[in-house]
Amino acid sequence: MSQSLIEKLKWRYAVKKFDPQKKISASDWSVLEEALVLTPSSYGLQPWKFLIVQDPTVRKLLTPHSWNQTQVEDCSHFVVMAARNVLDEKYLDFFFQEISRIRSVAPESLAGYRKAIGADLLTGPRSKIIQEWATRQTYIALGNLMTCAALMNIDACPMEGIVPLKYDEILGLEKSEYRTVVACAVGYRSSEDKYASAKKVRFSKEKLIQLI
Ligand SMILES: Cc1cc2nc3c(=O)[nH]c(=O)nc-3n(C[C@H](O)[C@H](O)[C@H](O)COP(=O)(O)O)c2cc1C
Repeated sequence: MSQSLIEKLKWRYAVKKFDPQKKISASDWSVLEEALVLTPSSYGLQPWKFLIVQDPTVRKLLTPHSWNQTQVEDCSHFVVMAARNVLDEKYLDFFFQEISRIRSVAPESLAGYRKAIGADLLTGPRSKIIQEWATRQTYIALGNLMTCAALMNIDACPMEGIVPLKYDEILGLEKSEYRTVVACAVGYRSSEDKYASAKKVRFSKEKLIQLI
């Protein structure tokens, strides 16, 4: 198990060229969506939205704002990850209603937890950097998606080579409480992608991991 995990992590790479003919099956895609939903977040607040852009016309519009990277149009599923730019009492109301409903607990029993979140994110120092905070959370979803895809032998390319403001415009996010952070193209590598055989460049364990 541990060996096959490392093999999968070595197998995965940031795909530069997808095979446009190969599509992820509906059942596999549904698993990856579930994996996205299961991503952990600070306090469990899930300050994100995942837009699955399958309309070829929209993907075409995104390409020039993606450094003309071909992955946008050639991949099977193109995921745009957006983070909340607002966190307010209304959002906390929704969050706590969900906890109370799903765990069958009285809302009053959660009052202390809610107060602590409010003191941190609504009025504390982090209230001034909510979009940044939500953005960090969103990268956890990106990592989770890439790893889960690799475990299923599905390829991906994380993409920061995009213009978030243009994405927001094209995807109609401007008037919402979400802003584009990063994208992830998911699908199957083309047999012509020479990057598949490139050796991984990773610093040594000694450099990166310190035992204290
Ligand atoms: C947040 C993030 C953004 C990235 N953006 C792009 C991108 O826009 N285009 C691209 O081809 N690769 C992109 N990459 C891929 C990295 O260059 C790649 O992951 C890194 O060089 C390590 O190589 P590997 O993933 O193939 O092992 C991105 C990676 C991350 C984690």
